[in-house]
Amino acid sequence: MTNLNLDAFVADLERLRSEAETALADAIDIEGLEAARVVFLGAKNGRLKAVQKGLGKLGRDDKPVGGQQFNAVKKSVEALFLQASQRVASQSKNSKGVEQVDVTLPGSPIRFGRVHPITQTIRRVSSIMANLGFEAVDGPEVEDQWHNFEALAIPNEHPARDPLDNFYIAVANADRPLLLRSQTSTVQIRVMEERKPPLRIVSLGRVYRPDTADATHYPMFHQVEGLLIEPGTTMAHLKSVLRSFASSFLGGDVRVRFRPSFFPFTEPSVEVDMEWNGRWIEMGGAGMVDPSVLQSVGYDPDEVCGFAFGLGVERIAARRFGVADIRDFYRNDIRFLEQFHDRGQA
Ligand code: DAH
Repeated sequence: MTNLNLDAFVADLERLRSEAETALADAIDIEGLEAARVVFLGAKNGRLKAVQKGLGKLGRDDKPVGGQQFNAVKKSVEALFLQASQRVASQSKNSKGVEQVDVTLPGSPIRFGRVHPITQTIRRVSSIMANLGFEAVDGPEVEDQWHNFEALAIPNEHPARDPLDNFYIAVANADRPLLLRSQTSTVQIRVMEERKPPLRIVSLGRVYRPDTADATHYPMFHQVEGLLIEPGTTMAHLKSVLRSFASSFLGGDVRVRFRPSFFPFTEPSVEVDMEWNGRWIEMGGAGMVDPSVLQSVGYDPDEVCGFAFGLGVERIAARRFGVADIRDFYRNDIRFLEQFHDRGQA
């Protein structure tokens, strides 16, 4: 029962090969690939299987050639299948990569930090004072009694030394306890002990007092201390330095008012007020450096004189930024803090 002619068999094989080629080239995913595999290479009802059955119907002489042709086509379809599976696998890898970086999505914005309003104020005060010739210096926050009190003419029985008004630190020598400095006036002493006049320094930093926190008090706050030692210095120089400072800091021509007061380390002593938006605001204390202070650092009060002042940084910052409660500076609420941005500040 030999009735299949070799040419027809080979033509069938060739058609199958070219259809398989198209189908495999069209497969774009694993599902498509598998469907093509079942159609062409399927073990039961695949097209190759069907053509293979035709082999038995070839004439005896045609069988070897037919068999060869069949094997060649089978190999080439299998090779096409392998090729297509590699292509689909690598495409699906790439497409995953592309999904991860969707360049059309908006990026997440970079959040810029802000300098804390108190730090902004400190930098600005330093820079204005630098323009007036005052060098910025630092002093330690843990102090001894000499620098915080004695050299500043604050004797042992003075109420400012009361343990309830200071953060004393227990040390081995209980007679001479250290303390967290209660004022930056300590830095006046430290600088004068080390240097000879003339001097123009400013020191900005933290001070500590056990006050209950309220809208105008906090157990830790900041002061600006200024000290000028130059021959012929008077209260008029003090007032004009403070007025220049206040005018630069607050803008416009800011008036400064002195009210008589008392500090152990200045004589005469004054309270300093500044007028701003029609209101007088208390900014701190000032005066001519007391001769006994000059003596305690080894200066001769008959030869040198100068002025000193101490202002509250929180008060200055609250004024400038319109903050009513200084506790807000220390709540660490970013929404509050990021509102304040002095021009020219990082
Ligand atoms: N140290 C004072 C205080 O904390 C402020 C002060 C007043 C500083 C007068 C001074 C000054 O330099 O001359 O209350």
